[in-house]
Amino acid sequence: MLDIHAVSRHFEGLAALTYVNLSVPEGKVVGLIGPNGAGKTTLLNCISGLDHPTSGTITFRGVPIQRAAPHRITALGISRTYQNIRLFNEMSALENVIIGQHRHGRSTLLHSLFAWPYHRREEASINRQAHDLLERFQLGAVARARAGTLSYGDQRRLEMARALATGPRLILLDEPTAGMNAVETHALGEQILRMPREGITVVVVEHDMALIGQVCDEVYVLNFGEVIAHGTPAEVRQNPEVIEAYLGKEEYHDAPA
Ligand SMILES: Nc1ncnc2c1ncn2[C@@H]1O[C@H](COP(=O)(O)OP(=O)(O)O)[C@@H](O)[C@H]1O
Ligand SMILES: [Mg+2]
Repeated sequence: MLDIHAVSRHFEGLAALTYVNLSVPEGKVVGLIGPNGAGKTTLLNCISGLDHPTSGTITFRGVPIQRAAPHRITALGISRTYQNIRLFNEMSALENVIIGQHRHGRSTLLHSLFAWPYHRREEASINRQAHDLLERFQLGAVARARAGTLSYGDQRRLEMARALATGPRLILLDEPTAGMNAVETHALGEQILRMPREGITVVVVEHDMALIGQVCDEVYVLNFGEVIAHGTPAEVRQNPEVIEAYLGKEEYHDAPA
């Protein structure tokens, strides 16, 4: 579904990614792990069009996207969440989700001016779907609260609801459980596992190895911008090179950056 071929990304003198090859099969959950600064977020940025590779190709369902703009990539069916949460803080939780959906709505401005009965019908269905998404992430009670006032965990869940609202085929999650406790993390894992059953393929960047084991079919390990291992969660955990890369990296076990 997603094929990353020989992707490198250099910032001035720094090689954030070096010749990365990675393939995401449809309907799977693929994990991306590695120490801080390994290049995980840079890779998600290159897939979502926020950044572009210095060289190499990224192909999504047969379409080269390494030079495509973010809105085009969203339209092709890729959505994401951010390591540093990006919500419209002054808008309500519900509005944040509805904005995600509008990328998909058929009503243009002209429609809303001249075909209002149709628009109203669509509006009602958009509202219902947005509420359903909020309920799914236990955010029903805070639908009207401003996003900026929500707890950290709620903001992360809201980001995921908003990412799903665009109707993606592929979702990219950048440290979705950062700041959550073990119970919240496990519950979020259940939400991630639900996605492939609904036809959504997942790429998840995570530090929490329990979550990786819970949700991932396969895992890639990045270290200093290079893929150093690829396999099942159990395989990569036993890989000596992976263990070596993490030696002395205490943050890997508990707190995300
Ligand atoms: N816009 C940028 N300009 C310069 N260096 C960057 C930029 N973005 C990321 N980097 C560098 O690229 C490396 C990889 O960063 P990042 O992808 O955020 O790692 P990770 O998500 O694995 O922690 C780091 O050394 C980081 O400082
Ligand atoms: Mg990162």
